[in-house]
Amino acid sequence: MTTKPLLEARDVTKRFGAVDALRGASFQIFPGEVVALMGDNGAGKSTLIKTICGVYAPDSGEILFEGRPIGGWHPKAVQALGIETVYQDLALAPDLDTPANLFLGRERLKGGLLGALGVLDKSSMRAEASRVLTDLSVKIKDVNAPVNNLSGGQQQSVAVARAVTWADKLVIMDEPTAALGVPQTQAVLALIERVRESGRSVILISHSLPDVMQVADRIEVLRLGRRVAQLVTTETTEEQIVGAMTGAWTQEVAA
Ligand SMILES: Nc1ncnc2c1ncn2[C@@H]1O[C@H](COP(=O)(O)OP(=O)(O)OP(=O)(O)O)[C@@H](O)[C@H]1O
Ligand SMILES: [Mg+2]
Repeated sequence: MTTKPLLEARDVTKRFGAVDALRGASFQIFPGEVVALMGDNGAGKSTLIKTICGVYAPDSGEILFEGRPIGGWHPKAVQALGIETVYQDLALAPDLDTPANLFLGRERLKGGLLGALGVLDKSSMRAEASRVLTDLSVKIKDVNAPVNNLSGGQQQSVAVARAVTWADKLVIMDEPTAALGVPQTQAVLALIERVRESGRSVILISHSLPDVMQVADRIEVLRLGRRVAQLVTTETTEEQIVGAMTGAWTQEVAA
């Protein structure tokens, strides 16, 4: 590909005590691409995306966004670049309701004096929240209940809706369909396709080969903290992907 990567991680290392979570991991995604990041449990996928998102500072290596290094390692600074993340542990505020979670940190204020006094425009936030959730085919009986009271799958959909609503350039989803039923999973996959159609990129972490084969343009495989394969979905078999994850099949790539 001749265009510049939207985001690139180069030779990133991250150690937690005695555990080498990332041992020189690299990753690339281009504008408008859906790239699946795959690998066995413990391969370092979540650690890599948390490093990209500024949750962790890497011990070494660099991460470039639109050709410029992401420095500072602060999640807010990364969000300001147009990157939103659905973390594996969701990071919702359990005591707040669905609209409040969707607008967490970006609350809409009423116009005029009330807004100047910090009064929230709850009805507009509720309307927007229900529009996004309808798009996702999520049925939440009471959007005013704390998200703690929602099922695991519903909470996952709220986190996906929030990320897609706010991301200008890149959505990162760490196992977004793990708790979802078949129709909800298909709704998330359809949403991922809509994000791509809007010119934005998606990094999808998933253990589901059928889901990945359905939506990903490319697949990058991590094994033991390093990239071991960069694959084009239409030119790849499920056996090769599994082989790359387990170490039974190797591809020459720039690690
Ligand atoms: N905060 C942490 N403290 C200590 N060790 C950690 C921490 N986060 C991750 N690790 C370790 O780093 C390694 C990589 O973990 P990571 O969560 O990145 O894997 P993963 O590929 O996302 O796995 P999964 O598919 O199970 O989600 C594991 O050995 C894990 O135990
Ligand atoms: Mg993980």
